[in-house]
Amino acid sequence: MAARSVVVLPGDGIGPEVTDHALAVLESACAGAGVELVTERRLIGGCAIETEGRPLADETVAACQAADAVLLGAVGGPEWDHLTGDMRCESGLLRLRKELGVFANLRPVKVHPALAQRSTLKPEVIEGVDLVVVRELTGGIYFGQPRGREGSGPEETARDTMIYSRAEIERVTRVAFELARGRRGRLTSVDKQNVLVTSRLWRDVVNDVAADYADVELEHQLVDACAMRLVRAPRDFDVVVTENLFGDILTDEAGMLTGSLGMLPSASLGEPGGPGLYEPIHGSAPDIAGKGLANPLGSILCVAMMLRLSLDLPDAAAAVETAVDEVIDAGTLTPDLGGSANTNEVAAAVLAALANRLQPAAANA
Ligand code: NAD
Ligand code: IPM
Ligand code: MN
Repeated sequence: MAARSVVVLPGDGIGPEVTDHALAVLESACAGAGVELVTERRLIGGCAIETEGRPLADETVAACQAADAVLLGAVGGPEWDHLTGDMRCESGLLRLRKELGVFANLRPVKVHPALAQRSTLKPEVIEGVDLVVVRELTGGIYFGQPRGREGSGPEETARDTMIYSRAEIERVTRVAFELARGRRGRLTSVDKQNVLVTSRLWRDVVNDVAADYADVELEHQLVDACAMRLVRAPRDFDVVVTENLFGDILTDEAGMLTGSLGMLPSASLGEPGGPGLYEPIHGSAPDIAGKGLANPLGSILCVAMMLRLSLDLPDAAAAVETAVDEVIDAGTLTPDLGGSANTNEVAAAVLAALANRLQPAAANA
C-alpha cells in the first residue's frame, strides 16, 4: 500500500498539547493498518513569527500542498494580538486555507450519550443530536476586498467586504447536498437574506442546486433564528450549510451541545485529490495552555476524519472513533467535561483502547 504523507502544524498554546497526542493516535492507527506514514512537522502562527519572522512560510505552504493531509492544532495568543495585517497569526491560518483551496469545512456535532448530562443544556434537549455544519471556508467577509482602516479622529472608518460569487456558493452547496443525501436527507441553508444581498444570492443559488437533489429535503433559515433553534431543538438539524462567518459563530455555539468546544473536530476539503486540512474548531486557549487541562478529543477525532476522508483508511477511522467512545464511556474526561483526568491521561486511554482494537490477540495475551 502507498505511504501516506501528513504535514503536522501544532501551532500555539494548547495546539501542540493536543496535536502531539493526535499524531500518536494517527501513527498507531496507520501502523495497525500496515500503512507507512511519513510526517513532516512545521511551524504556523506565533511560533512561526518568533522563529521564521512570519506566521506562515512559503515553504510550509508548499509542503502542505504536496501532502495527502495536514493536521493543525491552533494559532494565536495574547503575545501576538497587537500585530496587524499579514503578520497576524490568524492571517497565516486563513492564507493556508486559501492556498490549499479547502472551501468546504465540515464540522460534525454529535452528542455522546454519556456526555448528555455534562452539557450546560438539558439532557432531554440534546440527547441524540447528530448534525454536520458545512461552513464555506475560503470566501465571504474573511477574504473580501476592500478592507482596512482610513482616516483619524471621529471620521476614522474601517471596512470589511462580504462578497460571494455564484460559483463559490454552488460548490460548497453541492458538498452539503451530497452529505445530506448520505445521511438523513435533510439540509438547512442558513443566511440573512432579509438584510444582506450576498445572502439573497446565496439563497437563489441553493435553490438552483436543489433541482439536482430532489431526494433531499431543503429548508432555509435566517441565521439569528438558527442560533436560537440550535439550543431550543438541535435534533431538528441534519446538515447545515452556511457562509464563512455565520459558520464560525454557529459552530462554537453548536460545540457546547456536546459538552465542550474541545470535542469538535473539523475537516476542510477542496477539489477531489487535493490535500485535506484537519483542525479542531477550538483555538489556542491561552487561559489553560501549559496546565494539562486541554481536552485532546477534538484533535484526536480530526485524525479519524483524516483517516476516512484523506487517507482512505475507513476501518482505522472507525477504530479511532470507537476508542474515543470507550474512553468517554469509562469517564476518563478532562475538566471541561467535568472530569478530573489531564490531557495526557485521556490521550493515553485512547491509545490503549485503540491498541486493544487493532491487536486484540496481542492485547489479550
Ligand atoms: P478558544 O477556542 O481558544 O477558547 C475558548 C474557551 O474554550 C476557553 O475558555 C478555552 O479554555 C476553552 N477551550 C478551548 N479548547 C479547549 C480544549 N481543547 N479543552 C478544554 N477547553 C478548551 O478561543 P479564544 O480564547 O477566543 O481564542 C484564543 C486564541 O485562539 C485567539 O488568538 C484566537 O484567534 C485563536 N483561535 C485559533 C483557532 C485556530 O487556530 N483554529 C480557532 C479559534 C481561535
Ligand atoms: C476557527 C477560528 C478561525 C476562524 C480564526 C482563528 C481565524 O475561529 O477555525 O473557527 O475564524 O475561522
Ligand atoms: Mn472559530
